[in-house]
Amino acid sequence: MPLQPTAYLQEWFAPQAQQELLAYCALIPKYEYQDLMKVVLSRAARSARLVPHHELDFPKSPQRVPYHCRKHDRICAPVEEARKFLERYTADTVERIEEYMRHREKVRVTVVCGDSRELEFPPGDLIITSPPYVGLIDYHEQHRYAYELLSLLPSPFASVGYQGSDGRKQEEREIGPAFKGCSESAVDEYVEGISAVFANAIARMPRGAHIVVVVNDKRGLYPRIAESLPVEQVSVLHRHVNRRTGRRTEPFFEQVLIWRKT
Ligand SMILES: C[S@@+](CC[C@H](N)C(=O)[O-])C[C@H]1O[C@@H](n2cnc3c(N)ncnc32)[C@H](O)[C@@H]1O
Repeated sequence: MPLQPTAYLQEWFAPQAQQELLAYCALIPKYEYQDLMKVVLSRAARSARLVPHHELDFPKSPQRVPYHCRKHDRICAPVEEARKFLERYTADTVERIEEYMRHREKVRVTVVCGDSRELEFPPGDLIITSPPYVGLIDYHEQHRYAYELLSLLPSPFASVGYQGSDGRKQEEREIGPAFKGCSESAVDEYVEGISAVFANAIARMPRGAHIVVVVNDKRGLYPRIAESLPVEQVSVLHRHVNRRTGRRTEPFFEQVLIWRKT
């Protein structure tokens, strides 16, 4: 973890917030529950960035002066400190874990990270997934504060995105990244990528297993994706997403597609 603010941290955090986040980083190795502290750090860093409240998802440039906030409809000041978020999220995380402990069953959970087109999925009878959109989000960039603070990727960072350990840039593994846009060929590439993910993920599922896909399919791509797979659609639910961290100007609906393996 960095001991000095990187160029990114200097750009996107006020000086006091940088110091508080780095001081917290330095404490982590001294404690037992280090992964938990990294979660708290990452949540606090997201909130402590110099971004307007209405732009938490897609910040354009650091916000250094008071601004009219479209989320709260008033003048808000940019965040100076991180400590209050570290404290708030520590308490909140402990509460969530206590709640989780009350429901926790004796089951084994395995988390596997990687490109879903290539991962070897264990056999299972249910998939629940929220796939990426087409040309809307560069996920690695959106969560860059966490990559930087947790030193998750090797530095120095390449001028365009990050370089993975095998030399492939992270964004090259992202399906439907914003930087590829929404051209016809980008959409075709998206359909091909998502179809490959599902083909891989359901290969070892038994017939009759269910796949639940949460998606805002405004381009109507998912019937085409489903057609290329050994699945039939059982039903579609519509979900109104009225408020998340940022403030949307338009009403936003998601579909929940329920497929069954044939
Ligand atoms: C809509 S988000 C859903 C994230 C998560 N399920 C959630 O609800 O917070 C889509 C996710 O797909 C990931 N993704 C994109 N391409 C991928 C790939 N080739 N393999 C695995 N994940 C990928 C993105 O990085 C992003 O985290």
